[in-house]
Amino acid sequence: RKTAPLPDDIRAMKGGTPIVSLTAYTTPMAKMMDGVCDFALVGDSVGMVLHGMPSTLGVTMEMMILHGQAVARGLSTTMMVIDMPFGSYEESPQQAFANAARLMRETGAAAVKLEGGRHMAETIAFLVARGVPVMAHIGLTPQSINTLGGYKVQGRADQADALRADARAIAEAGAFSVVLEKVPATLADQITDEIDIPTIGIGASAGCDGQILVVDDMLGLFTAFKPKFVKRYATLGEDGKAAISAYADEVRARQFPASEHTFADKASGK
Ligand code: KIV
Ligand code: NA
Repeated sequence: RKTAPLPDDIRAMKGGTPIVSLTAYTTPMAKMMDGVCDFALVGDSVGMVLHGMPSTLGVTMEMMILHGQAVARGLSTTMMVIDMPFGSYEESPQQAFANAARLMRETGAAAVKLEGGRHMAETIAFLVARGVPVMAHIGLTPQSINTLGGYKVQGRADQADALRADARAIAEAGAFSVVLEKVPATLADQITDEIDIPTIGIGASAGCDGQILVVDDMLGLFTAFKPKFVKRYATLGEDGKAAISAYADEVRARQFPASEHTFADKASGK
């Protein structure tokens, strides 16, 4: 394709070939997935993955904008979605609109993502009515880690109906898709069946309408911990460590730089 899909194109992928997505935080990472992924998410996981924060709670609007601008420079045929950080949308629909508009204006993102189910439905409808496409995010919502009591599976047993109600409320409010994070596979399949917008799974089910992973997780670059739902497709963290050790050894042995990395004196004519 010649241009990036729009949120409506993503919505139209419901029930078809699975939607492919990854997070992205920098220009080179965005270039790696451009034209391969349907959308790239500038996730607030940037705080943990690139900045070493203990959770996503400390991520600011300024951080999201800086990384969003970097990602935008690397994308031409993949759509960009950007996370609304903790504290930038929960207070009121008005607060959410002001910050969503700023994220879209300053980064060029096609849509925003925010965490929450039924209690965010009013805000989602408010944003969509004013030109802000919204991707929702339910199940394990990392910004609520302090009230959820840990990074555990959500929607098991007696919580399942509540999560289904969240999904329906979000779809009715006009979200164009919804991320399902760390929920039982059978529940993810049931929700995927019940709502008319695409479900994007992470730790959910192959039956979802699409999948997302944190790019540093799947490349093996982020190794502080590995959730069960992560599959490592590369070992860039280990490869990088080995490369740095090889460099250190060669510098200490005066093997680097070699002659091909150095310059002759101008007078010698080379
Ligand atoms: O911030 C993030 O990386 C996310 C994805 C895991 C969906 O929200
Ligand atoms: Na996020």
